[in-house]
Amino acid sequence: MKLAIRDLEIDFGRRHVVAVDALDCDAGEIVGVVGESGSGKSMTATAVLGLATRLGATVRGSIELDGLQLLGATEATMREVRGRRVAMIFQSPSGAFNPVMRVGEVFARTLRLHGERSKASAWARAEAAVEEVLLPAAVLGRYPHQLSGGQLQRVAIAVALALRAEVLLADEPTSALDVTVQAEILGLLARLRERGLAVLLITHDLAVVAEVADRVAVMQAGSFVEVGQTTEVLTHPAHEYTRSLLDAVPKLSAVPSAEDSGARSL
Ligand SMILES: Nc1ncnc2c1ncn2[C@@H]1O[C@H](COP(=O)(O)OP(=O)(O)O)[C@@H](O)[C@H]1O
Ligand SMILES: [Mg+2]
Repeated sequence: MKLAIRDLEIDFGRRHVVAVDALDCDAGEIVGVVGESGSGKSMTATAVLGLATRLGATVRGSIELDGLQLLGATEATMREVRGRRVAMIFQSPSGAFNPVMRVGEVFARTLRLHGERSKASAWARAEAAVEEVLLPAAVLGRYPHQLSGGQLQRVAIAVALALRAEVLLADEPTSALDVTVQAEILGLLARLRERGLAVLLITHDLAVVAEVADRVAVMQAGSFVEVGQTTEVLTHPAHEYTRSLLDAVPKLSAVPSAEDSGARSL
């Protein structure tokens, strides 16, 4: 298993914010974690990166990356994990870029930090990676504010690809984007899955999960109330909370039945 979380408990003082019994994400799989705001999705991802304790949280349990225990790992190990093996993208991609540096410079520096031999070879790798996310290489010469949110999110994904990350933690990666661009980014996540990445897709929006996730974990107040194959969970939600999330998605609950669409075509 690429990423295996067991008995993860995260507390802020006496406040328990996460109590996850089990979450797995394998290579070539997109696992959705869905739940309303404040349910503990981001803290779970933050714990995977070893950053939850920096925020003052207490973290217990087990988080394994390909069998390597991350909880309690040395700072040197976690730097390697954060910098390269586990990539993370956020709702607002601009945070990952320095506003006064060209996008390509940030990209190339990141690759250099992780062992790329020369500036020229780093640029070449960056160019290949942005082309792979269907952007023209020219975006590398621009400043972050000159790119759209969707373009920047693509570049952030390209960085993960170029670093050959094994796991991508995508925390609300499409929530700030309009629907068309949202679909393009989800298409890219599917492409990363084909490339063998383990993708943890965190979102409050069940429609996003329905689009690409193979499996879904439904999170409420820090715990999973339901975990299963996406189609199974969406068509036969076992838990009341999942049903309420489904009801909040007009696109899913308003899918016309065969009869309805037949009537419309008459
Ligand atoms: N730095 C922090 N200090 C104290 N509590 C926090 C901190 N960050 C998050 N929390 C709490 O942890 C809970 C889960 O937050 P979060 O994981 O961000 O939720 P989600 O991503 O599902 O919206 C929330 O109740 C939030 O208030
Ligand atoms: Mg969050």
